[in-house]
Amino acid sequence: MRTIDKRFSGVHALKEVDFSLNAGEIHALVGENGAGKSTLMKILTGIHQRDAGDIYYLNRPFDPRNPGHALEMGIGIIHQELNMMDHLTVAENIFIGREDTRSGGVFLDKRGQNERAADLLSRLGMNIDPTATLGRLSVGKQQMVEIAKAVSRRLEILILDEPTAALTDAEIDELFTIMTDLKNRGVGMIHISHRLDEIHRITDRVTVLRDGESVGTRVTSEITKEEIINLMVGRTIYEEPKSASSVPPDAEVVLRVTGLNAGPMVRDISFELKRGEILGFAGLIGAGRSETARAIFGADEVQSGRIEIGGAPTSIQSPVDAVAHGLAYLSEDRKRYGLALNLDVKDNVVMATYRDFTNGPFLAKRKISDAAHQYVNRLAIKTPSVDQLVRNLSGGNQQKVVLAKWLIRNCDILIFDEPTRGIDVGAKSEIYHLMNELAGQGKSIIMISSELPEILRMSDRVIVMCEGRITGELDISEATQESIMHCATMRTQETLTRS
Ligand SMILES: Nc1ncnc2c1ncn2[C@@H]1O[C@H](COP(=O)(O)OP(=O)(O)OP(=O)(O)O)[C@@H](O)[C@H]1O
Ligand SMILES: [Mg+2]
Repeated sequence: MRTIDKRFSGVHALKEVDFSLNAGEIHALVGENGAGKSTLMKILTGIHQRDAGDIYYLNRPFDPRNPGHALEMGIGIIHQELNMMDHLTVAENIFIGREDTRSGGVFLDKRGQNERAADLLSRLGMNIDPTATLGRLSVGKQQMVEIAKAVSRRLEILILDEPTAALTDAEIDELFTIMTDLKNRGVGMIHISHRLDEIHRITDRVTVLRDGESVGTRVTSEITKEEIINLMVGRTIYEEPKSASSVPPDAEVVLRVTGLNAGPMVRDISFELKRGEILGFAGLIGAGRSETARAIFGADEVQSGRIEIGGAPTSIQSPVDAVAHGLAYLSEDRKRYGLALNLDVKDNVVMATYRDFTNGPFLAKRKISDAAHQYVNRLAIKTPSVDQLVRNLSGGNQQKVVLAKWLIRNCDILIFDEPTRGIDVGAKSEIYHLMNELAGQGKSIIMISSELPEILRMSDRVIVMCEGRITGELDISEATQESIMHCATMRTQETLTRS
């Protein structure tokens, strides 16, 4: 790709970017949220048309007209935001648009399709039932299905736009095995990720974008992670673990959960949250942490257990009740629960608090814009204006809009579920700063995170879950990656020895 240029109304998304990919190469594409990574890849796959520049593919000029055309030519993409049909089965999703039909007939050969999907999934080492409804799988598993779908075709180039953001460590290992296998077969891959540790594990070269410009391409083994960060954000960022809790021992308990049961993934959960505390919830993806949060928040049905807020027993039947009790829940799955993509930034930010922004029967437009502005600045949300549709923001900036939406409510107890997933290193430290500030103001935070460095950096205390139960509680002064991992895999090990 040579001197690729692209403008959207108000945004110069790509400025004369050069990019190349060799056969059998894994090329990392990194940069801050909104740097232009997804846009460059959407141009390569014909989703967006470039304004200027040239593309050469297999030594010939190439004009990708639309994603179907690119795919036909052997260029596949796995999108940042999952892009599949929740109500269809796994197999249907994999073969959508090219369903098998029985010879001459119009009937879909479901069984044949399921068998082929089963075959593909097992070849990829994925333990997924092809007849399962996609929407019932975890985000991580859905991602794996999307990968299976892409590699079920003959490809020259595979683009992976943040494929690992929602995957467990084991799933990441599986994915990297699949990628290595494709590499050995000569497939070139472009790997976009905010998890910078992955770059040295899997990629051959790395290109850094900054504000729509390429600031360089390097051989991965010749550049350090710190140097990459420096190229990305233009400064050095230090992330040190917290060494001691900043919560006084006699701090008031604001939330007490006792014997909470809600489905198979929330078993007998008891814990306390104190005023001004950041309580980390660690564990592997699928340990039941989000389910616990959803149960407390009234989003899922609770079978038994007690929830006390500020010392008083409460009965939270729905998220609306929860909010009335001063609870906020920032879901991990922003597309499903967090955002109205077809509304603009300001409406998304104030959506849940419209009542505070009325003027008699009218919405106070000015007040809404001002409030939205304030959060756009505070969280450094990259958007030309608060009137931009959220759909048009980059993935990480959409995540920040979800944050703003909850912060504006001024809740006392905030549950952050994977708050920095898909967020670049620079913005991450801004969000950490903000969380510390909120805790300093006496707000209490439950932070669910699958990234151990994040847990160790932010938490005053750590609760570890495994298979729907709490398997450990550690003060930050005694928490280490090892002690947390030990608890996080405890029940799995027990189950293994028992069977
Ligand atoms: N359809 C669109 N309309 C208007 N602006 C857009 C559109 N798509 C992207 N942009 C803007 O172009 C810029 C680059 O966005 P892009 O999605 O490529 O960023 P990114 O590097 O993928 O970021 P992230 O890490 O957050 O995913 C951003 O400022 C974004 O808001
Ligand atoms: Mg992106």
